[in-house]
This record gives sequence, C-alpha cells and structure tokens, in this order.
Amino acid sequence: MRFKIKRFDGENSKFDIFDVKLKPHMSVLEALFQIQDEEDSTLAFRYSCRGAVCGSCAMMVNKKLRLACRTQVSEVAGEKVLSISAYGPIAKPEIKTGYEILVEPLPNLPLIKDLIVDMKPFFKHYEYVRPWFESDPKPGKVNPMSQEEVKKVDKYAACILCGLCYGACPVSARNENYLGPAALSKAWRFYADSRYETGDQMLKRVDMPNGVWACKHVYRCVEVCPKQVPPTNAITGSIRAIILNKMKKVFR
Ligand code: SF4
Ligand code: FES
Repeated sequence: MRFKIKRFDGENSKFDIFDVKLKPHMSVLEALFQIQDEEDSTLAFRYSCRGAVCGSCAMMVNKKLRLACRTQVSEVAGEKVLSISAYGPIAKPEIKTGYEILVEPLPNLPLIKDLIVDMKPFFKHYEYVRPWFESDPKPGKVNPMSQEEVKKVDKYAACILCGLCYGACPVSARNENYLGPAALSKAWRFYADSRYETGDQMLKRVDMPNGVWACKHVYRCVEVCPKQVPPTNAITGSIRAIILNKMKKVFR
C-alpha cells in the first residue's frame, strides 16, 4: 500500500511517497511506525497510548480528521479523496480513488515537523475556561451524584483532548482567538455538573464574541469526534443558560 505523507522541516513542505507492507488489522499508526523503522527514521509523528485514549495521534487521513491508532488501513484504502488543484487558472476539485493513502497533519494549528503540530493554542483556550473544580470538597464530605446528574455530563467528560474538533472547525480556521469546540464543551461539562459551585463565573468566561457567540453551528466538530462528544450541544446549552440568566436579572 502506498502512503503519501506531508513533510515539513520547519521551513519547506513537500509530499513523500512510501510503500508499506500490509499486515492484518494494521492501523495507520502502525504503518507510520513501519515507515519510520524501515524507510525514513526522520519521519515525525506523535503518539502515546496506541489505543484511542491519549488523543495525541490526531491527524488528517484522506482529508478526514481521525486518530491514526484507531484508523485501520483497510478502512481508508481505496477511499475517494476530494482534492482541489492549486495550479492552473481555475482550481479544479477532483475526486481521486486512492491507491495512495494521503496523510497530513491536523489543520488550524502551527506546524512543528511533518505530522506534529503545536498544541499550545488549543491548550491556551482550554486553560482559559478553567475546566476544573475551584475548591476541594470539605474534609469528610462526599458529594454523590445521582445517575441522572451523571448522565448530563458523562458524554462531555469523555473528551480526550485530541483536537480533532479544533482542526475540523471552520471558525477556528479563520479566527485563532475563538475558544473552539473542545474548550467550550469542557466549560459546559463543568457548568452542568451538580457539584460545580461557580457556574455564573464559567458562563461569564464563555459569554464573549470569541466564546459561544462565535460558533456558526456547522457541526463538523460533532462529525469528527472519536468519542461522540457533541460540542455544539454544549455551546447551545451555554447560550440558553446565558440568556436565561440575563432574563432573570431583568425580571428580578
Ligand atoms: S470534543 Fe472530541 S474531537 Fe474535540 S478534543 Fe474532545 S475528544 Fe477530541
Ligand atoms: S496514540 Fe493515543 S489516541 Fe492514538
């Protein structure tokens, strides 16, 4: 199987072609290991858990955002890839049926090397919303949640911070100051938690032009999330809570 991989050395980018000997149930990440071991030891990519838990192997495979460790080569081989030619007087969209598997880095983040991007902008927004409990429970006091309360936050707590949603978001692509789907989703995960005591402050942090109001509800974040987190539901939930709070203040 032929892999076409985007390379970047800090200044220039190009595509390199590698032939990979397929093994049964091989993932895209395993194919990258084989290339690194047998063909080019300088190929740079990030990984850790190899089991869709750490979120570090997020990249673009055949123009779709995916975790390399969770993507089987058999799943993407022969896939149709939409590419837009950058040359000629008119850029032409082309659909290619792939003998090649096209591998590129996560979009919307600065490139460091090959498939490694700088996650700092992503984590800067994440840290800004302060996604943690501001105070510890009082000593000896447990604060149990009912099953219903757990259900409200469970799907948002499943986020592994892979950044796939950030890479897929058309608003993040245009506006690096937009907090982005993952940070806004985490903000809601805490706001909606029955044990969280500083909800008003959390709402204030996301109630700004580059917060919940910048979302255009395109839903690409929902499409690409490997953990079925629905960031747009979280954003809509925050918008409702902000409006409700403001109305309560008016009618108080
Ligand atoms: S919401 Fe989904 S896609 Fe976004 S960072 Fe979390 S796990 Fe990744
Ligand atoms: S290596 Fe951890 S999610 Fe892929």
